[in-house]
Amino acid sequence: MSERVSAGLAADLSPGAPIKVEIENDVVCVHNVDGAFYAISNHCPHAYAPLDQGFIENGRITCPWHGWSFPLSCEYSERDGVYRYKVIEENGELFIEIPAVNA
Ligand code: FES
Repeated sequence: MSERVSAGLAADLSPGAPIKVEIENDVVCVHNVDGAFYAISNHCPHAYAPLDQGFIENGRITCPWHGWSFPLSCEYSERDGVYRYKVIEENGELFIEIPAVNA
């Protein structure tokens, strides 16, 4: 059974300024990429760099420490150590759906 956790108002989430949301077993970073919202684990599986400080290009986030790169989209459901969560926008509020799509 899935549950939702609020990630605040969509209007408050600007491109290039992701927010972190703590959930039960993860810290999730929510990104606004040109008006599309993505939620992924904030820890890089290589050496736990904070992915909210990563660089986003062409639908991927690149780790700021050693350059590993991960797709942002929930359509990528491989188990690569980065959990991806669906983001639902409802009446201007964002919700992260738990569990992750690739849990
Ligand atoms: S910590 Fe992310 S690539 Fe090394």
